[in-house]
Formats: sequence, structure tokens, C-alpha cells
Amino acid sequence: MNKLKMTLLALTSLALTSSAAFALDDAGRDALMKDSKCTKCHAADKKKDGPAYKETAAKYKGKADAEKKLFTHLTTAPEIEVDGAKEKHVKIKTTNEADIKAVIAWILAQ
Ligand code: HEC
Repeated sequence: MNKLKMTLLALTSLALTSSAAFALDDAGRDALMKDSKCTKCHAADKKKDGPAYKETAAKYKGKADAEKKLFTHLTTAPEIEVDGAKEKHVKIKTTNEADIKAVIAWILAQ
């Protein structure tokens, strides 16, 4: 009985940790980007205050360091210019690496 309980516990915690390692699904990614205000300045295929994601995808196409560059961009608040005024780029509202990489993969696929 005890052994069975322990096995069940082990299985449950395994299921929990492995589901946390899965990347965001489409709805989760959209919600994260909305929550982080990305949608205010970016769209997939038209320029707003920031470049269209298509433009960014084209800029980084075939570049091996694309993910690393964008990861830094989204996590370190680099200085940018909006309407001629300098401000800090927003940081994405999560520290979950897998989630940030899911957003980056989506941007690079535009
Ligand atoms: C206040 C407006 C604003 C918000 C909010 C914003 N961005 Fe940006 N973003 C910009 C501007 C302006 C640039 C262009 C910076 C430059 O080229 O110097 C930029 C650049 C980028 C780039 C291109 C970086 C590169 O190296 O070419 C990506 C990708 C990006 N933003 C993604 C995001 C994501 C994802 C979010 C949400 C977490 C976000 N942005 C939120 C304005 C914004």
C-alpha cells in the first residue's frame, strides 16, 4: 500500500514538472503578449510604434544568434526610440524561459 502511494506521488509530481516544461500554447502566448503590452506597439504584418514581427523575422532570417538576441531584447529593457523620444523597451512579463522562447519562435516564424 505504502509503495503504491509512493509510486502515485512520484507519478503525480512527474506529471506536474513535465507539464511546466511544455511551451505555451497559442492562447497562452497571445495572452502573455497582450499582458506585456506587446500588441500596443507591434503587429504581425504592419508597422506600429515598433517594427512588424514579419520585418523582425526577415531581419533575423538565417542568423544563428536570432533567439539569443531577441531573448536579450525582451528581458533586459534596452533603450529604444518611440516617436523620437527615448524610452526603455518593455520586458516581457514572465521569467519562464520556455515561455519567452515560445514567443520568440512565434515572432521568427512570421
Ligand atoms: C512602447 C512600445 C513598445 C512596446 C510596448 C513593445 N515594443 Fe517591441 N519595439 C518597439 C520599438 C520602437 C522597437 C524598435 C527598436 C529599435 O529598432 O531600436 C521594438 C523592437 C522590437 C523587436 C525587434 C528587436 C530587434 O532586435 O530587431 C522585437 C522582436 C520586439 N520589439 C518585440 C516586442 C515584444 C514581444 C513586446 C512585448 C513583451 C514588445 N516588443 C513591446 C516598441 C515597443
